[in-house]
Amino acid sequence: MFLTGFKRTALCADITEKSVGKEVTVMGWAAVRRDFGGLIFVDLRDRSGILQIVCDAGILGSQFSSAEKIRSEYVLAVKGRLRKRSDETINPKIPTGTIEVVATELRILSEAETPPFVIDNDVSSVNEVVRLKYRYLELRTEELQSKLLVRSKLTNAAHSYFNKQGFVEIETPFLGKSTPEGARDYLVPSRVHNGAFYALPQSPQLYKQLLMISGFDRYYQIARCFRDEDLRANRQPEFTQIDLEMSFVDGEEDIMKVVEGFVKDAFKKNNKKLPAKIKRYSYQEAMDRFGSDKPDTRFGLELTDVSDIVKDCGFGVFDNAIKGGGSVRMINAKGFVDEKNPILSRRDIDALTDFVKTYRAKGLAWIAFKEDGIQSVITKFMSEESVAGIIKAAKAKTGDILFFCADKTDIVYDSLGALRLHLAEIGGLIDKSKYDVLWVKDFPLLEYDPEAKRYVAKHHPFTSPKNEDLELLDTVPEKVRAKAYDLVINGQEVGGGSIRIHSKDVQQKMFNVLGFTDEQIEERFGFFVNAFKYGTPPHGGFAFGLDRLTMLLTGTDNIKDVIAFPKVQNASDLMTQAPAPVEMKQLRDLGINIKEKTN
Ligand code: AMO
Ligand code: AMP
Repeated sequence: MFLTGFKRTALCADITEKSVGKEVTVMGWAAVRRDFGGLIFVDLRDRSGILQIVCDAGILGSQFSSAEKIRSEYVLAVKGRLRKRSDETINPKIPTGTIEVVATELRILSEAETPPFVIDNDVSSVNEVVRLKYRYLELRTEELQSKLLVRSKLTNAAHSYFNKQGFVEIETPFLGKSTPEGARDYLVPSRVHNGAFYALPQSPQLYKQLLMISGFDRYYQIARCFRDEDLRANRQPEFTQIDLEMSFVDGEEDIMKVVEGFVKDAFKKNNKKLPAKIKRYSYQEAMDRFGSDKPDTRFGLELTDVSDIVKDCGFGVFDNAIKGGGSVRMINAKGFVDEKNPILSRRDIDALTDFVKTYRAKGLAWIAFKEDGIQSVITKFMSEESVAGIIKAAKAKTGDILFFCADKTDIVYDSLGALRLHLAEIGGLIDKSKYDVLWVKDFPLLEYDPEAKRYVAKHHPFTSPKNEDLELLDTVPEKVRAKAYDLVINGQEVGGGSIRIHSKDVQQKMFNVLGFTDEQIEERFGFFVNAFKYGTPPHGGFAFGLDRLTMLLTGTDNIKDVIAFPKVQNASDLMTQAPAPVEMKQLRDLGINIKEKTN
């Protein structure tokens, strides 16, 4: 059916009591239909919300038969007069609950088959496979629409903020060159050059730096990025960055200031309040206190290094970890075994051991402070002096329980960092109404990859070392700190960036430390390194994870909720069934030989 004669005057939920008595025309989907014989009520839904339509046989006359045909998800156009509902029929649950439209004209624009699930905000109980197969139906829910509207507001805020700050929006290619040193690339085979491949960008990193060399001074882009990584609750194979780069920056502060300005602006535009001052931690402090480089500091449960206290304490597990170059650290879960109001039972404590084992810990030692004394299997192996030292360091009181991890220090950080979050969840220690925003800085420039038997860049190979650490590059590379910074909100890394190397010599040195030969540099980054010969301004930049920022603003911990058409854990799209086989001819054109399936 066509719209002839109907012209929409407003979105359903934009209509208010002010229009009572006036004629309105609304369009949308029939969410609910209640039939009382000569009187049919329809909840009409569009993206603004729901408005009740009254179809009265006495008023609609011959058109009433259309009302009788309406089923769920039929698309309707309704003209009618707005009236106030009588007191007993007011619906306080919806914003338009005090009004309704008495239809004078009604047209069914499109019929609908019975949908595979009822479209309301309870769809989360429907199997996710079904919801994602019919994603376009799930997207009719207010729940998802509201999140995508926040996302839209956020991209709008980005455009207006960065334009105002003098940034130039420039698009960079999707079909580029595979550069090593990142996650795994998504590759696109070339038809014209059989056997050669484009790579989809993991980020516009190289291009944005080249744009600085070109003189654009300030660049930004809302950029799609592709990484073939294992997926998690906050990771998708294609995701979006608000990406920026700035020239003639004096150092990290210049970039951080612009970034802070945007975050504050974006949160304000979404009516969310951020603390006025954004805290800062060095990487080392974050790891030592919270066991994480993206700490959630909305609660305590900080880590304490007790290596000095327990070295030679007599307990083999601790002694050996320290002798092996590792450390022993603990968390005091204050009040978690308080006998009047215990948070952890003995069985819960045992389960925590299994929990930390998934982070490579070999075990989880503990000391509980009960009314009738200390409960622990490890204290009997330890000198009295060590136990006293631990109690003092932990400021342990009755009702507390100390958890220890002894291992290589990175395993200790990982395990206790995860345990800390887990305990906070169990104990309900997190105030979810607040935003906790902080910077983590001074990351190590490099980390040793035992598999590759060489150093790899922790951020990327174009990140500048700190000036004062430059000479360590030749001697103790793992000690070199980077001019890099991550922005963390509520324990999520929402963005990161760095000041770039802009001297050819330092870049060459960096490549050398990473173990690249001159031929490898030429083959992989030749175009990039060459560009630096022709006048490079000092520059640096940053990229926000737009999806993660939207997650924080909408209060979801599932990245799929903020992406219209997301992929699932195994990187497939359940709606389109991508990835999917292609015609043999397409493969032949690309010079790809795959034996045809015989079955
Ligand atoms: P980085 O790799 O830290 O930096 O990425 C920046 C931000 O992007 C988000 N992010 C992701 N979001 C969803 N799914 C993913 N798979 C995913 N991977 C990353 C995170 C992260 O903080 N070019 C550099 C930035 C720069 O140096 O300017 C870069 O890409 O929120
Ligand atoms: P065991 O001597 O292996 O029976 O361990 C005694 C206690 O120490 C148990 O509670 C273990 O979970 C714990 N434990 C074992 N290995 C470690 C470790 N590397 N760090 C902390 N605790 C551990």
